[in-house]
Amino acid sequence: MLVSTGVTVRFGKRVLFEDVNISFSKGNCYGIIGANGAGKSTFLKVLSGEIEPSKGEVSLDKGERLSVLKQDHFAYEDFNVIDTVIMGNQELYNIMKEKEAIYAKPDFSEEDGMKAAKLEERFAELDGWNAESDASTLLNNLGIDTDLHYKLMKDIDAKLKVKVLLAQALFGNPDVLLLDEPTNDLDINTINWLQEFLIDFENTVIVVSHDRYFLNKVCTHIADVDFGKIKIYPRKL
Ligand SMILES: Nc1ncnc2c1ncn2[C@@H]1O[C@H](COP(=O)(O)OP(=O)(O)OP(=O)(O)O)[C@@H](O)[C@H]1O
Ligand SMILES: [Mg+2]
Repeated sequence: MLVSTGVTVRFGKRVLFEDVNISFSKGNCYGIIGANGAGKSTFLKVLSGEIEPSKGEVSLDKGERLSVLKQDHFAYEDFNVIDTVIMGNQELYNIMKEKEAIYAKPDFSEEDGMKAAKLEERFAELDGWNAESDASTLLNNLGIDTDLHYKLMKDIDAKLKVKVLLAQALFGNPDVLLLDEPTNDLDINTINWLQEFLIDFENTVIVVSHDRYFLNKVCTHIADVDFGKIKIYPRKL
């Protein structure tokens, strides 16, 4: 569970929101709405820890993993597509790279052996053996053909980069998923697929969108950012 306790954000004299107390629970999808400039993106950044609130705190239950749809489309230019998706689970990705480095050593010591065994254990816990095929399936579902999966991000079309970053956010069943306007650059088929994915998703989703139709499809709750407050209510079904 992700909890915001007494969160206040101020930029200079301007108070964006004040004393926000919300518990985001498993199984729910929260749609964040509000006027342009109301502070929706800022609130998401506070929840992800990207920015510190002026007051209050955000806490995530121990052992839970939070995943964010990256906004910078060019952040992974020198990585291949499949690695970019797996990086959605940074711990798993780091272990894969550490393992590779150890096994590539010409002088494999006893100490290396012990280190590798530890890494293998955690790798298995994180379902590492299925990482590549899971990433591949996600990409295929998003309309990215298999022959592109090992290409570098800089060599694929800008429209596809957006989908790779979406796959990255969704990869590995995160406990909390934060999406800021995910439908903006997507075609209608992908939006429909994402709707179904989010409806079936069993953990917590927090999504900012101006698309009320989309929010009505996927959300269980609406959080309205307005006049320095964030009001939350269950969506009428
Ligand atoms: N780092 C910052 N320093 C100062 N002001 C900021 C900063 N980041 C955002 N703001 C201001 O805070 C306000 C809220 O911005 P934010 O991007 O959170 O709004 P938003 O609700 O996501 O808007 P939109 O619907 O246009 O995406 C804006 O007026 C913005 O200019
Ligand atoms: Mg925004």
